[in-house]
Amino acid sequence: MRTETPPVVRLADYRPSDYLIDRVELDVRLHPTETRVTATLALRPNPAGIPGAPLVLDGDDLVLLAISLDGGETAPGAVAVTPRALTLHQPPQRPFVLAIETKLDPTANTKLMGLYRSNGVYCTQCEADGFRRITYFLDRPDVLAVYTTRIEADRDEAPVLLGNGNPVESGSAGGNRHYAVWHDPHPKPAYLFALVGGRLGRVASRFTTMEGREVEIAVWVEPGKEGRAGYALDAVARSMAWDERAFGRAYDLDVFNVVAVSDFNMGAMENKGLNIFNDKYVLASPDTATDADYANIEAIIAHEYFHNWSGNRVTCRDWFQLCLKEGLTVFRDQEFSSDERSRPVHRIAEVRTLRARQFPEDAGPLAHPVRPQAYREINNFYTATVYEKGAEIVRMLRTLLGAEVFRRGMDRYFAACDGTAATVEDFLAAFTAESGRDLADFARWYAQAGTPTVAVEARHDGNAATYTLTFRQSLPAIATEATGGARPLPLVIPVALGLVAADGAAVEVRSDRVRDGVFVLDREEDSLVLAGLTTAPVPSLFRGFSAPVKVVQDLGDADRLVLLARDADPFNRWQAAQSLAMAVLTGRAAGRETGASGAALAGALAAFLEAGALADPAFAALVLALPSETEIAQEIGRDVDPDAIRAAREGLRAEIGTALAPRLDALRAALAEPAGTPFSPDAASAGRRALRNAALDLLAAADPARGAALAAAQVEEASNMTDRVAALAVLVPLTGETRERGFARFGAAYRDEPLVLDKWFALQATIPEPGTPERLRGLMRHEAFSLANPNRVRSLLGSFSLNNPTQFHRPDGAGYDLVAEVVLALDGTNPQVAARLLTAFGTWRMVEAGRRRQAERVLRSIAARPGLSPDVSDIAARSLG
Ligand code: ARG
Ligand code: ZN
Repeated sequence: MRTETPPVVRLADYRPSDYLIDRVELDVRLHPTETRVTATLALRPNPAGIPGAPLVLDGDDLVLLAISLDGGETAPGAVAVTPRALTLHQPPQRPFVLAIETKLDPTANTKLMGLYRSNGVYCTQCEADGFRRITYFLDRPDVLAVYTTRIEADRDEAPVLLGNGNPVESGSAGGNRHYAVWHDPHPKPAYLFALVGGRLGRVASRFTTMEGREVEIAVWVEPGKEGRAGYALDAVARSMAWDERAFGRAYDLDVFNVVAVSDFNMGAMENKGLNIFNDKYVLASPDTATDADYANIEAIIAHEYFHNWSGNRVTCRDWFQLCLKEGLTVFRDQEFSSDERSRPVHRIAEVRTLRARQFPEDAGPLAHPVRPQAYREINNFYTATVYEKGAEIVRMLRTLLGAEVFRRGMDRYFAACDGTAATVEDFLAAFTAESGRDLADFARWYAQAGTPTVAVEARHDGNAATYTLTFRQSLPAIATEATGGARPLPLVIPVALGLVAADGAAVEVRSDRVRDGVFVLDREEDSLVLAGLTTAPVPSLFRGFSAPVKVVQDLGDADRLVLLARDADPFNRWQAAQSLAMAVLTGRAAGRETGASGAALAGALAAFLEAGALADPAFAALVLALPSETEIAQEIGRDVDPDAIRAAREGLRAEIGTALAPRLDALRAALAEPAGTPFSPDAASAGRRALRNAALDLLAAADPARGAALAAAQVEEASNMTDRVAALAVLVPLTGETRERGFARFGAAYRDEPLVLDKWFALQATIPEPGTPERLRGLMRHEAFSLANPNRVRSLLGSFSLNNPTQFHRPDGAGYDLVAEVVLALDGTNPQVAARLLTAFGTWRMVEAGRRRQAERVLRSIAARPGLSPDVSDIAARSLG
């Protein structure tokens, strides 16, 4: 029997709800296995709906205990109930009240959607459609209601009871029970509902908004972990201050609560006034968290907080508009991190993520537009495309309109759409109104899937003293359910550019088609003629990565070396090094020797370090890092052989490490912290650590024996987790006793720290050796591992499938088999995490024929399984489609 693929939902079919819910009173009596929920819903017919239509409330796995209409019994036959829906056949055509009592089992809820328990703490996750697992409801984002929630629980089991909005009342509920009432005055869709009950420790502070509101901020964590919550608490206050400064947005409740739980499907959730987080993105101390962890905590705290306006005050009409809140909010958190840290360094990090995760997605069978046209399982669309490419679209909009007009457009959007469920069209309309610009062509970015390629040709005419840049955009034609079938039309592509002379001086750009350093490519092909240039300049194009495109540019090594050394745009300096390296790497992976270019790159990096790497260590660390194996595969595009890529990359790393060895040793010495220096997670300190560890990494590539000794010593002696984990990572490819001892000792030292063991799991999963799948099977039996915990699954299997290309894509299929086994084992308990893991197969068409056959065999065997979840069957079907 084949699994039925879930029915398709189409954007084109959107219809308003036939009924609205104005007020919700929830009474939740928490119990580990028999929680009872009474929902009292104030309903009315929607003037925009169909008069007299039946009322169909969504449900999922619910048991109905009682129902009443306007305080009385419902007529026999008036109501039809299944676990998935409650239908009232002839609802009153006036305001009415339904009271519904349901029963649920939070302990048995392994999907981690709806109400569940994590380490004994009751918590909820309702986005996208988890509220229907708590009570029957119009579980759609365009139904906005005001909620009052009464939570009752055992005092011992759940001394802390938190809800959305402001606390209203609390007290004894008789015996050992107590209760708390929360009221949220801001109308919201059900996906923003949340409650928490449990034993939790708290750190707190106060913030006064620009409107004069006194806000109490609290971060709640497992008792005993309060000492690790300070950084997150501070990040909340900094986010509040930044959103006032940068966007004029103030917080709008008296309390803001953040709760960390250890079992969470995603990163975090922006529930109104009660953000719930994966504890990985809250807990940090120098001994347990790396600089990357600190940066992630800051970014995700900011992200969820910023949703309070971009997501909550203005929400989405339907789930096709997901990018309206996610792309915009990612853009906002990126801007926050750029302001709090180093803008160029952060921009490079953003682009690396985009290229490593979104470009492959956009190039494979799971490609979809930033606003999909159809879906079968919405939880499968919380993707790099919706989030990261969605953020790039907002960034391009700012580049096109200028910062000032952009800000006015944002103000107008928030003012016009406050309290409503909006669309991408509403968003763009605000910018059209503010700028007078027609954004209809620009809107194609939301509708067309695939990464555009922009080919650039340059021609210098010495006699006319002109320099002509010809741009040609090409768009992949992608026809799937999610993309629709239409032929792609030209996109509006902002090209931020500058010119550099051979000696590095800036050259003036003379053209009225370039405004504020930006040329707009809005047709298939266009030529930009720049005047007054008697000698050919070096073009610096797509500065700051001004558009999410692939650039094909016939630039010689000499020009790239000029850009690396001299470009005024730090992003393009970094990009020049990447492009130089990429040319060598793809050449070597294809069996073409590019020895001269390898030496030229090493020479250029030496000169770069010589010129003063210590001025910006974080930037220097990025310049030294070669493109990842995934990026190289992406560049090659077809018939990819991961082993050849790895061999080419390791070879070049060794070559660079050898050429730079004395300088790298000197850097390590210069960057060593004097003993006893207290740890600080700030960007400058993190940058010094990053460069010092980048140096270690290259030294180890050049001389593995010495590298292993240095790294093993650093694992033992490091005074913080950043240096310890960086050293452990250096050991990963260095087969032998030293590595095994290093991992064994680390594992023993942190046996009681799950979040630290996640790093240990993740690194072992990237060991590029044939024994790794067996090693991972062994680690799955480790006492700290559990398939029930998403962080553990992601560390071990997610890391393997995404960061270990030679072993995941093994010619014998053993890597695919391992991941498939786990996907199937998880599907029965947590389909969301299972489906996410399966997306690693999204690159299968890119690999060479032998591996491709193995991947297809495994995907087909998954797809043929009876009883698959909609989540996994959707990914399997689309991957094969
Ligand atoms: N809105 C959350 C965020 O800030 C993501 C939650 C998604 N959860 C899910 N089960 N699909 O990004
Ligand atoms: Zn978000």
